[in-house]
Amino acid sequence: MRFEKHIFICTNQRPPDNPKGCCASKNSEAIAAKFKEELHKRGLKGKMRANKAGCLDMCELGPTVVVYPEGVWYKHVTLEDVEEIIDSHLMGGKVVERLRVAFQREG
Ligand code: FES
Repeated sequence: MRFEKHIFICTNQRPPDNPKGCCASKNSEAIAAKFKEELHKRGLKGKMRANKAGCLDMCELGPTVVVYPEGVWYKHVTLEDVEEIIDSHLMGGKVVERLRVAFQREG
């Protein structure tokens, strides 16, 4: 595995009149930049990586973020949440439950 944690932040952009909306209109570029900056500050460059992503297909829950390898999804992430996700989840192993997307399991 190349990275201990790999974080994808949707920065998809749609025209303003598109009914689906988009994460870019909800500040996700700044959120992606903050993830990169805060990981760097903590000396995690090379261990953990934040990448911008295209649409993650949960537009109504945006800005959306997904963390691998565990496949934990976060919804309605704001700039203020970035440090908490890094410190609690990525470094501390404790998922930020209030932002987590709950999936219905089938079967
Ligand atoms: S635009 Fe971000 S999940 Fe679709």
